[in-house]
Order: sequence, then structure tokens, then C-alpha cells
Amino acid sequence: MVNESLKIQNVVIVGTGLMGSGIAQVAIESGVNVIVVGRTQEKCIATKTKISTGLARSAKRKFADSAENQSQYVEAALSNLKFATELADVNFSESDLVIEAIVENLKVKQKLFSDIEKVVSKKCIFATNTSSFQLKDISSKLSRQDNFAGLHFFNPVPAMKLVELVRGDETSEEVYNALFSFCQRLGKTPVRCKDTPGFIVNRLLIPNLLDAMKMVERGDAEISDIDTATKLGTGYPMGPFELLDYIGLDTMKFIVDGWHQRNPEDDKFAPCEMMDKLVSEGKLGKKTGEGFLKYN
Ligand code: CAA
Ligand code: NAD
Repeated sequence: MVNESLKIQNVVIVGTGLMGSGIAQVAIESGVNVIVVGRTQEKCIATKTKISTGLARSAKRKFADSAENQSQYVEAALSNLKFATELADVNFSESDLVIEAIVENLKVKQKLFSDIEKVVSKKCIFATNTSSFQLKDISSKLSRQDNFAGLHFFNPVPAMKLVELVRGDETSEEVYNALFSFCQRLGKTPVRCKDTPGFIVNRLLIPNLLDAMKMVERGDAEISDIDTATKLGTGYPMGPFELLDYIGLDTMKFIVDGWHQRNPEDDKFAPCEMMDKLVSEGKLGKKTGEGFLKYN
């Protein structure tokens, strides 16, 4: 049972990338009021377009035979959505939850949370969507760690049912329960995770994706054969290279480099030259039109 004082209705999402826009979409579809904070007006406009496209897709699925119902559904969801380009423009006194979904960089995330902590009310919960940092590293300088947790959504958020709900050493039971109910309200299945590197999924998935790249670097198999073999041989919906491109190679590189720095002796997390080269060329995967594969 969620304490009424921790019911989550007003949410601020910081980040207009793949994850920020996906989380915003599912939240507004569930009747949650959302303010998305982006760095520029252009990013906010592009995110609104992306969310509108996702909503139209959901609406089509829900109301296949009524264009009118589809447009009502999209309009109703969009009426729950606002944008801001500065934290200072957000009325944080009304926010129940802030979800951080910005670049996978520890210092940038730490700075954001320390800025947010100065402006939110005491009851406001903070959550990070980090893929690879431990909560204790992000929150070490925060004074209210009991209100801090990990909400690790999966990409694409509208389609992926899982949220890893990560409990830090200091996260309060009340906050954890409120977030559990929030995930369920969004139609997601939360799983309980401890504050360990990569939580559950990424601790298993990322070494596997790195192994696939090393297989190509050694000349043991071709990219297209690895993707086909993985899909047909295991039933995965995407092969490792399709998935790497889907996640974003810049995000993957941030994850791998961070783990390598923290575990230099562990070969599992050794950097991959082929991925580093693509990132240096701006080929970041599906989001830029090219990564290991090309998209039109
Ligand atoms: N917006 C709205 N809905 C979407 C969507 C989007 N962007 N993408 C997919 N969907 C919905 C579709 O509407 C559809 O719903 P219904 O079944 O109810 O009709 C469903 O998702 C499947 O979509 P499609 O049939 O169009 O697509 P598909 O069958 O080709 O599947 C996919 C697409 C869901 C992306 C599938 O290929 C897949 O599951 N791929 C693997 C994705 C994955 O592993 N993600 C995890 C990445 S790791 C991560 O996220 C963690 C990290 O920290 C890096
Ligand atoms: P993205 O590249 O699509 O978006 C990154 C966002 O961060 C953009 O809005 C960008 O404007 C913003 N940003 C970049 N530098 C910034 C800075 N210095 N200050 C403030 N904002 C900045 O990335 P994404 O895929 O949405 O990832 C966001 C977070 O979610 C990361 O922590 C990532 O690890 C995590 N995540 C990613 C996936 C995935 O599959 N891509 C899945 C789960 C979690």
C-alpha cells in the first residue's frame, strides 16, 4: 500500500534522447503529468515530434478501426506533457519524482542531481536511468539519499516491459514502494535489483555484446552471420550488432570505458577498436542512420 504522501502524479524527466522521450511517452499515456527538460528548444521540439509519432503508433494499435478515437487518444496524452529548457523554469515544488535520463557520464549526472536537490521539495523522489553506474557513485554527494533510487527502463521504452528498480543502501522502503507502484501504473514489470554494476540485465548483456564485437575483430565470423545465427539459434529478436546500433554506440562506449577504467584487469570489459572507430566517425547506430549497419 502506497502512502498517499508519496503518490506519484507529477514527474520531471531530464533528457530528450531515446530514453527520456520513451519514458515521457509511457508516462503521459498513463495519465501522469510530465515536464521534459531539454537543453535547447530544438531538442524539445524534436522530442515532441518523436513522442507524437510513438503515441500515434500506440493509438493505432488500441483503436485500429477509429481514426477519431486515435486522435483523441493522442491529444489526451499530449495534454499531460510540457517542456522546459532550464531547470529554473520548472516549478519543482509540485514535483513528486525527477527521472534523470541524460548522457552516461558520472560527473554530468552528479552535477545534475546536486543542482536538482537545491530546488525540489523534501518529499520529491530522485531516480536515475543509468545503465552502468552504481547509485552510490551518483548520489555520494547528495544529502537526501533516502529519496534516491534507480529506475532502469529498457529501449524502446514503449515496447519493453521491464524496469529494473534499483535500491541504494539508503533508499527508504516508502520511496521504493512508491516507485514500484509507479512502474506498475506505467504498465511495466519492475524487478528488484541491488546496487551492483550493471544491475541484472546489463551485467549479463554487455559482456555478451562485447564478445560479439571481439569475435569479428578476431576474424572468426561476419557481422551479418553473427546477427542471423543469434536470432535463429536463440530466438532473440535482434542480433548483437542490431542491438548495439539500437542502444547507441556512444552510450555503449560510455558504459564499456567506465567499466574498463574501474576494472582494468578484467578482460571482459576491454575496449573494442571497431566500436571506438565508429564512434569517432559519428556513426552512433540507428539514431544517426549508421553504425555497424546502415539505416535509411
Ligand atoms: N513506440 C511505440 N511502440 C513501439 C515502439 C516505439 N518506439 N517500438 C515498438 N513498439 C511496439 C509496437 O507497437 C508493438 O506493440 P504490439 O505488439 O502491442 O502491437 C511492439 O512494440 C512490437 O513492435 P513491432 O512489431 O513494430 O516491432 P518488432 O516486432 O520488430 O520489435 C522491438 C521491435 C520491440 C524493438 C524488438 O526488435 C526487440 O525487442 N528488440 C530487442 C530490444 C532490446 O533488447 N532492448 C534492450 C536494449 S538494452 C537496454 O535497453 C538497457 C541498457 O541500459 C543499454
Ligand atoms: P541519448 O544519446 O539518446 O540522449 C542523451 C541525452 O542526454 C540527450 O537529451 C542529450 O541532450 C543529453 N545530454 C548530453 N550531454 C549532456 C550534458 N552534458 N548535460 C545534460 N544533458 C546532456 O541517450 P539515451 O539512450 O537516451 O541514454 C540516456 C541514459 O539512459 C543514459 O544514462 C543511458 O545509459 C541510459 N539508458 C540507455 C539505454 C539505451 O538503450 N540507449 C537503455 C537504458 C538506459
